[in-house]
Amino acid sequence: MLINFWYPVILSTELGDQPKKVRMLGQDFVVFRDAGGKAQVLSNTCVHRGGSLAGGKVAGDNVQCPYHGWEFDGKGRCHRIPSLGKDAKIPSRARVDAYPVEERYGIVLAFLGDLPEAERCPIMEIPEFDDPGWRPSWINYQVPINYERSIENGLDPAHNEFVHPSHGFSGEDSEYKVNDLRWVGDHGWGPGFFSKFKSPPSKDKDFAKMKQATDSREAGSGTIGANQLWTYIRFAPGKAMHQYMWECPIDEYNVNIYLVNLRSTFLEEEMDEKVNSMNWMIAEQDIHVLTKMHPMATPETNTKEYMMPADEPILRYREYQKQWEAKGWRIDVDEVERNRRKVAYAIPSPGRRTAKGWVLDSIPLKPVDQAAQVAVKSAAR
Ligand code: FES
Ligand SMILES: [Fe+2]
Repeated sequence: MLINFWYPVILSTELGDQPKKVRMLGQDFVVFRDAGGKAQVLSNTCVHRGGSLAGGKVAGDNVQCPYHGWEFDGKGRCHRIPSLGKDAKIPSRARVDAYPVEERYGIVLAFLGDLPEAERCPIMEIPEFDDPGWRPSWINYQVPINYERSIENGLDPAHNEFVHPSHGFSGEDSEYKVNDLRWVGDHGWGPGFFSKFKSPPSKDKDFAKMKQATDSREAGSGTIGANQLWTYIRFAPGKAMHQYMWECPIDEYNVNIYLVNLRSTFLEEEMDEKVNSMNWMIAEQDIHVLTKMHPMATPETNTKEYMMPADEPILRYREYQKQWEAKGWRIDVDEVERNRRKVAYAIPSPGRRTAKGWVLDSIPLKPVDQAAQVAVKSAAR
């Protein structure tokens, strides 16, 4: 798991006037709306004596700890320590990590890391979102899958024929092969590609209209950063699904997936449920395979798997992972696990770059391997 990316926290519609606890990167966070309705994300551990902020309540612009009533604002600053009495001066160390938040496309996203704004991976854009020719719908689900395995599945053109009966001939097409990949849009944050494929017309009477005439279609996928994935499926001219997924590791072996599906056909609201249930059915087909993979996480070296040309997008994604690891962004999960019952860690927030004296330890990160750094730099040349 990597710090320094934008992670999905909660659907906008699910964040009301109560604070909520959300587990991301193996740590707990509190998300709440301040008095102005702006979503705020803080480390969940109260620095007084370890209370769970999410168990408290919203008080104006602050979240109030349920244990002794300390109040923290969206920047993580404490404004009230009731035991000191009214008008008491609040010490500057009374603060928790606060993370940059953006609410986009119906999802609250938090940047979990300490990178300055100019160096951050961009939030994936949905250019069609406000276009009346497209209609969005959402599904959100948690599954016991390592998030890298999940993203790699989205970058895998060879699984569709076998895993998704609606996307191929279930291995019964003797002419089947993965066609050449057409590479697109790598802007320094991940690979992207398109490939042509064949699939049968849909058996569903509504979707059959979308997948009529031709059996030659095109699909593409790509990543932006560690956990943002897009997939475009072009069924027929003018009929497409553009899917945007934000994936958040709950921990090493569980992922929380937010899918925003844009469709250029069946624009009626009544079709949302049908489209969502079709997407859920397709997700279940992936989940069926992905929950049984061994090992659950990606192996430490690619030599422990036997890659083919169709796996090239996955290899490219792994190269990016290595680059980010060489920047020191990978969490040392073994060290965190060793201290799980004894130490409360915080994912470092941008505030740690300027202020000293934080109460909680920053989460342990994998030491940067100098050799790997050199190798990554020369590969980039
Ligand atoms: S533990 Fe939060 S106020 Fe005491
Ligand atoms: Fe799939």
